[in-house]
Amino acid sequence: MENGKFVIQGLEGQKVLEGKISVRGAKNAALKAFAASILFDDGIQIDNVPFIKDIESVSNLLKHLGVHVNQISERSFKLKSSGGINTDLADDIAKSLRASIVLSGPILAKEGKVSFSHPGGCVIGERPIDIFLESFEKMGANTRKDGEKYIVSAAKLHGAEIIFKIPSVTATETLMMTGVLTPGTTILHNAACEPEIVALADFLNAGGAEINGAGTHNVVIKGVDSLRSRKPFLTPSDRIEAGSLAILAAVCGKDIDIIDCQPEHLKVLLRALVSAGANIQETGKSIRIKSSPSLRSLDIKTHEYPGIPTDLQSPLAVLMTQATGKSFIFETIFEGRLNYLNELIRMGADITICDPHRAIISGPTSLRGREMESPDLRAGLAFIIAALIAKGESIIHNIYNIDRGYENIEERLRLINADIKRV
Ligand code: EPZ
Repeated sequence: MENGKFVIQGLEGQKVLEGKISVRGAKNAALKAFAASILFDDGIQIDNVPFIKDIESVSNLLKHLGVHVNQISERSFKLKSSGGINTDLADDIAKSLRASIVLSGPILAKEGKVSFSHPGGCVIGERPIDIFLESFEKMGANTRKDGEKYIVSAAKLHGAEIIFKIPSVTATETLMMTGVLTPGTTILHNAACEPEIVALADFLNAGGAEINGAGTHNVVIKGVDSLRSRKPFLTPSDRIEAGSLAILAAVCGKDIDIIDCQPEHLKVLLRALVSAGANIQETGKSIRIKSSPSLRSLDIKTHEYPGIPTDLQSPLAVLMTQATGKSFIFETIFEGRLNYLNELIRMGADITICDPHRAIISGPTSLRGREMESPDLRAGLAFIIAALIAKGESIIHNIYNIDRGYENIEERLRLINADIKRV
């Protein structure tokens, strides 16, 4: 996986792609299971791991801390933290992915201290970490900043009642992992409910944790002495990848079967696609989309799970350029997540960016192929969809940002006849 470019031949709006495409394991679930390895007294196994850059990064970060990370087959890893790990997160890696912050909870719970720089990841807004720091303090930790580093330490952590000001996904996961080995009961109010949080809680509970309410807004964690792994973490399929492929199928598919996915995690998105006129059949583990004569405009507001995920906002914007009428986007989660729309405008889309959170897209418009840069992971995939429906050739640079979260996307899209090459 080199940081090259994708060269894509556009289909000029024709709906011709067809075949089956399989969804890989969820990046945002696997990364958290990697972090959980620190909590266990014995080794853990993680299956169905996607082959993506962010997994390489978290593996390197864990190795640097002293965790043994072994890839035992194409999609399975064994991780063992032998105790007495390093408590300082390596800057160069931690700054490349937001999920690095999730390691802070298990390290603090196990070692009583942790230090890290502000986590990096996609540039989609300010992405503060105040919820993490305030919650650690509620649990008895001291937090201070020394230069670029946050230093968190606790002689003894204790359970606490914590009220999140916003339901943050990574804060819910981090505090859940901190609470698991902390004496007393930790209660997280206004917690996030994403399916990846439930997968993590189920895995920790199978290892002896006592977490109740994961998947609701109130999570109760009773601290236990230790965790022992009893069964592998089976990474659930990636709902964002499945949703992005469903959007791609709705705009340029003749008959596409998205397999190995969990449509029940995408109910609100699929409802939106049906209301836009997409022809969708769901089974328990697949979504089949056949071409429909035309698409209608949509009005979407991103929302915490189970609403429309912010991570699907950019592919939906591409669909809106092909739909008849005026569509509206209200991005409620991040304030820097509409910038990519300027590139769609340069491709010929009719878009008014009203403010950092809202845009109006009028369609249908034909798009022209262009040379562009992938600004972040999700917008990068949106550019692939835009390039596929455009007229002429497009070149997408900086595809490191796509490889971070989508496994060999070009090879898999070629299976449904897309003309896309990695150069
Ligand atoms: C997770 O990010 C995902 N990342 C994101 O996926 C996803 O877009 C996001 O959740 C929303 O679903 C991972 O799981 C690694 P948040 P996270 O904390 O946890 C504010 C991708 O492409 N906030 O739920 O960082 C924050 O600014 C990525 O895979 C604070 O104010 O998002 C935002 O407005 C991109 N203070 C809101 O909460 C804090 O301390 C929700 O963000 C933390 C967050």
